[in-house]
Amino acid sequence: MAGVTDRPFRQLCRAQGAGLVVSEMVSSNALLWGSEKTRRRIDHSGEGAPIAVQIAGADPVMMAEAARFNVGHGAQLIDINMGCPAKKVCNVMAGSALLQDEALVGRILDAVVSAVDVPVTLKIRTGWDTEHKNGLAVAKIAEQAGIQALSVHGRTRACAYRGAAEHDTVRSIKAAISIPVIANGDITTPEKAVAVLQHTGADAVMIGRAAQGRPWIFREISHFMATGEHLPEPAPAEICSILTAHLHNLYAFYGEYTGVRVARKHIAWYSKGQRSGNAFRQHINQLESAEAQLQYVQDFFNHLMELEVLAA
Ligand SMILES: Cc1cc2nc3c(=O)[nH]c(=O)nc-3n(C[C@H](O)[C@H](O)[C@H](O)COP(=O)(O)O)c2cc1C
Repeated sequence: MAGVTDRPFRQLCRAQGAGLVVSEMVSSNALLWGSEKTRRRIDHSGEGAPIAVQIAGADPVMMAEAARFNVGHGAQLIDINMGCPAKKVCNVMAGSALLQDEALVGRILDAVVSAVDVPVTLKIRTGWDTEHKNGLAVAKIAEQAGIQALSVHGRTRACAYRGAAEHDTVRSIKAAISIPVIANGDITTPEKAVAVLQHTGADAVMIGRAAQGRPWIFREISHFMATGEHLPEPAPAEICSILTAHLHNLYAFYGEYTGVRVARKHIAWYSKGQRSGNAFRQHINQLESAEAQLQYVQDFFNHLMELEVLAA
């Protein structure tokens, strides 16, 4: 997820049980590769294997070049974005806009697959809009092109993030192709993960937004799948310790100024649903230094721990 799955967050999700994590998308426009944003997106130091990088663009030659460039910078798996509905991406006919042009999809996939020796995977939506759900046709093109796994977000491009994701299309795709299929969209609990796996027959599930502020969802799902039982909710002390380590990693990765700002949204996600979370978020967004941010997080969770003791 652009703006979310930076290196610190990926490392955290992996430590919490995610089997595979993917970078924020890297544009295929080489003019942007020197930017600070891209420089961070291609920094994989200390990341565990397989290092998976997502690329976005609409020109087969540029996409092939982007794949080679990222493999040269450590990528061990290239994922192609044909799922992003963002205007910025779709206006240049990339992301999910590509689903409208199946011939071009084929040319991009062929070019990228033949450009690199690492596995290439593809992320799509179920189609362009509800009248043009061509996810199945695209899946067959992907299999033909040598794509190694396909992730399907159960919404069309036109749906953006509205309504509920549907997994019937994922089920039809899984039944029609023989490469691994990964189901994605609105999977927020261990039960939902199991239900989607059963309904679709998919080989894996992909979790996006539900990991924001809850990176332990991966271990919760693994545990539930292995035992049929739920792990207890992490206590405030554990959440505080996970968040504090996450913050230190953000400051180290972005530097203090940007790190403090990037951290705000993560802190807000972690505090969602916690008692006095609203007041906490309003105040923490005003703080400018790492020290003040860390201290206020500590104070907030100390208070939650005290309430927990009182309630026991
Ligand atoms: C802030 C944000 C950024 C995203 N960026 C990307 C992206 O760069 N590439 C991509 O394939 N999907 C991107 N997505 C889509 C997610 O990967 C996922 O398909 C979608 O959120 C549905 O899954 P979920 O319900 O588990 O979040 C993004 C989603 C969000 C909310």
